[in-house]
Amino acid sequence: MALWSGRFEEAPDAFAHRFGASLEVDKAMAAQDIAGSIAHAHMLAAQGIISGDDARAIEEGLCAIRSEIEAGTFAWDAADEDVHMAVERVLTERIGQAGARLHTGRSRNDQVATDLRLLATDLSGQLMEADVSLRAALIAEAEKNADVVLPGYTHLQHAQPVSFAHHLLAYYWMLTRDFMRMKFARIAADANPLGAAALAGTTYPIDRQQTTDELGFSSTMPNSLDAVSDRDYLLDLEYACSVCAMHLSRLAEEIVLWSSTEFGFVTLADAWSTGSSIMPQKKNPDFAELVRGKTGRVVGSLVGLLVTCKGLPLAYNKDLQECKEGALDAAATLTDCLRVMEGMVSTWTVNAERMAAQAATGFTAATDVADYLAKAGMPFREAHEVVGKLVLDCEKRGAGLEDLTLEDFQAASPLFGPDVVGTLNPAAIAGARNSFGGTGTQAVAEQIVLAKSTLDKDKGQLG
Ligand code: ARG
Repeated sequence: MALWSGRFEEAPDAFAHRFGASLEVDKAMAAQDIAGSIAHAHMLAAQGIISGDDARAIEEGLCAIRSEIEAGTFAWDAADEDVHMAVERVLTERIGQAGARLHTGRSRNDQVATDLRLLATDLSGQLMEADVSLRAALIAEAEKNADVVLPGYTHLQHAQPVSFAHHLLAYYWMLTRDFMRMKFARIAADANPLGAAALAGTTYPIDRQQTTDELGFSSTMPNSLDAVSDRDYLLDLEYACSVCAMHLSRLAEEIVLWSSTEFGFVTLADAWSTGSSIMPQKKNPDFAELVRGKTGRVVGSLVGLLVTCKGLPLAYNKDLQECKEGALDAAATLTDCLRVMEGMVSTWTVNAERMAAQAATGFTAATDVADYLAKAGMPFREAHEVVGKLVLDCEKRGAGLEDLTLEDFQAASPLFGPDVVGTLNPAAIAGARNSFGGTGTQAVAEQIVLAKSTLDKDKGQLG
């Protein structure tokens, strides 16, 4: 019998019951549901709405149920529509009337909203931890590879040499902004809907501040209609997950490229790659590809929830039951992706020589050669033209700038002197770009200091 069976003459159709149930997914928020119920019972007793004895029996009964759920011994029954009903039914079977008083001045509508806000708080906290951990690994890799240069790209064409540390730190800063979004999601979930009841509040003299305090919320939601129908905090969580997944997909894509024979910039550890069942030579970057691929489901959950919420009239609608899987899946998926990424980058082998060799190809010194002329007095636009012609000439001869003789340079412009050779070294080119935020040796050292202090500050925000 459902807890709402009073006004019904017929039992629910078995298939309709299964269609309408959320018990399976709800199990993920059983602990939160019980915490919310205990706080509610304390408040009801403090306000004289139920007796102290009833509240104690409720709390004891709920604690026993919580232990059984944690131990995996709780007898879930698929006949229960959701976690709220499962817990309340078993409680009432065990403690009788006291259990039946728990639902006074409360509805499953404010109950589920409370559970979900508590759950979202935990999920954001887990994400923040995984984010911080990957960022620490990226800093460690940047420090290890301070002297390594690789080609910097625009349009995936060789552009200018950059330091590998600088390249990795670009991802560090993306993940730093992701941390901010995860933290915002945690803040967004931090308001108490309990006491909104079904939609309109209640005539019982409840004290909403008491449950706000006991459950650790910072504020109490001031509008009961909004309290039961708001799922914005899950959108915030899924948005934070989506942007971070997108960032990870970019790094994952680079890892796929870098570990290819063509690039050969990194070699993934055996433990973080896979083989082929037919081609004995294969070592595949499956985990990087999966991280890239899982972006789809994470972003899908965000879009799914936006569409679920679109056009919903106030207040609670059963559509809202659909908001749970996506949020849980997005958070769990992204937490795993962050961990996998950390595993890959902290165990790979960086092929510094291969990177440096590539950094010297594709005319990556051209800008510096043009700058050489500009510094010697030639307007930069003219210098650009002169070096462009030199590059064209080299390309026709199948040569690089480093193959040109001083005479070749001087034929292009008499401003070239023997020291032009100094502009062709990739490490020197990268190392000299010390404008703030640049790839220069000093600038990157300063960036690492800043990254470390940002990381320390963010570590202080963890739960
Ligand atoms: N299982 C429901 C959910 O997840 C709980 C709230 C149900 N409320 C209702 N009036 N049917 O949204």
